Amino acid sequence: MSNRTVITFGTFDVLHVGHVRVLKRAAALGDRLVVGVSADALNLKKKNRAPVFTQDERMEIVGALAVVDEVFVEESLELKRDYIEKYAADVLVMGDDWKGKFDFVSDLCEVVYLPRTPSVSTTGLIEHIAGSA
Ligand code: CTP
Repeated sequence: MSNRTVITFGTFDVLHVGHVRVLKRAAALGDRLVVGVSADALNLKKKNRAPVFTQDERMEIVGALAVVDEVFVEESLELKRDYIEKYAADVLVMGDDWKGKFDFVSDLCEVVYLPRTPSVSTTGLIEHIAGSA
């Protein structure tokens, strides 16, 4: 019996079709999809602005998707190996904007980079909405 666990990570703020598609494609690579939703503090540090939705709201939204089996808060970008082990992941999926950057975990699990959906991003959406206000 195969029971492949897929893990992926992201902010998933202001959920859009690019997010849904990557999660669907990630889920199709295994039997169980676990999603690490990045902590508010991580986003603040990286982007200098808080996400529109809090980490609890983002986890609730992502966790409500039919293809997602489990969500957790990604507290640190440095803990990928620990999360892969904790959730017994067989496959790590990342967008191809990260191509090559996670090959260092390939001793623990398979690493798959999926192409991003063109022309949509949370940053672009926020700018679009702010510009039309
Ligand atoms: N993603 C995707 N296609 C897009 C946007 C995102 O496949 N058009 C994927 C990313 O590659 C990642 C996941 O969705 O695997 C979460 O990405 P995230 O950074 O939260 O979304 P972005 O829209 O890229 O957000 P931002 O503009 O804030 O960087």
